[in-house]
Amino acid sequence: MDFVKNVLSAVTNFKAYPPAVTALLIQVASLVMVASSLFFLWQIQGLKLTLIQAVFLQSLLALLLTRWRKLAWWWCVIQPAFPLSLFFLLSAPVSSWWYLLIFFFLLSLYWSTFQTQVPYFPSTRSVWIAIDDVLPANKSLSFIDIGSGLGGLVFYLAKKHPESRFSGVEIAPLPWLFSVVKAWCNPVSARFVRADYHDLDFSQFDVVFAYLSPVAMLPLWTKVRREMKKGSLFISYEFPIPQVDADLCIYPEKTVINNATLFVWRI
Ligand SMILES: C[S@@+](CC[C@H](N)C(=O)[O-])C[C@H]1O[C@@H](n2cnc3c(N)ncnc32)[C@H](O)[C@@H]1O
Repeated sequence: MDFVKNVLSAVTNFKAYPPAVTALLIQVASLVMVASSLFFLWQIQGLKLTLIQAVFLQSLLALLLTRWRKLAWWWCVIQPAFPLSLFFLLSAPVSSWWYLLIFFFLLSLYWSTFQTQVPYFPSTRSVWIAIDDVLPANKSLSFIDIGSGLGGLVFYLAKKHPESRFSGVEIAPLPWLFSVVKAWCNPVSARFVRADYHDLDFSQFDVVFAYLSPVAMLPLWTKVRREMKKGSLFISYEFPIPQVDADLCIYPEKTVINNATLFVWRI
């Protein structure tokens, strides 16, 4: 009973959880509530539901709790779909090793996304070209992509500016490993570190580039203001700093589907 109480109080009281953790707690709470109610109904009334009926109940309850916790709209799709997908996937004639394999692949690709709320999503070549255009010309630079993913931007710039130092820091193991192997196979001056960018000292860089997410921007701006040297550049693709105007705004894609902005701040 203590466990049920703890899960319920965690779901209801602890607002500081990242959404993915709240979503998981909601699933656990729904499972506990559905399983215990069905158990009591069975004991007292002799009422027995089939497994699929119980799974539907769990989906419905998870949806209601998700709406109550006011999670973003996409969680209202993911949450009820989760128990149903689990039910159908587990009844499919597929070896469970595949699920384990897929789980490890996704884990090494997304790693701490549930906490950072910054998933892997690559920027495009048009963005790399626009970034190249704002880099100071005829100057040897130290550049870092914080959250470098597969390293596409870093490789592109390193090939064009052999006189400068380009690096990437990436928290997720798989994209980092991919960039390291690619750097071994390519004779460019690109360096990749597996670390959390919060642990880096930004004063070592003339240009810091970020393609992260809205939640990351305010704390990142505090770090930029605290650590970056005067005259250096901070560039963010797609995500502005709330209430801080950029010195330059560029629209690299200029398509109807994507007119995301490249924001540049001179520190
Ligand atoms: C939207 S992707 C951008 C990839 C790359 N910069 C590009 O432009 O193609 C964001 C990346 O940041 C990484 N990331 C998120 N939080 C991080 C952190 N605290 N430290 C280092 N990398 C992080 C994610 O794993 C993900 O690969």
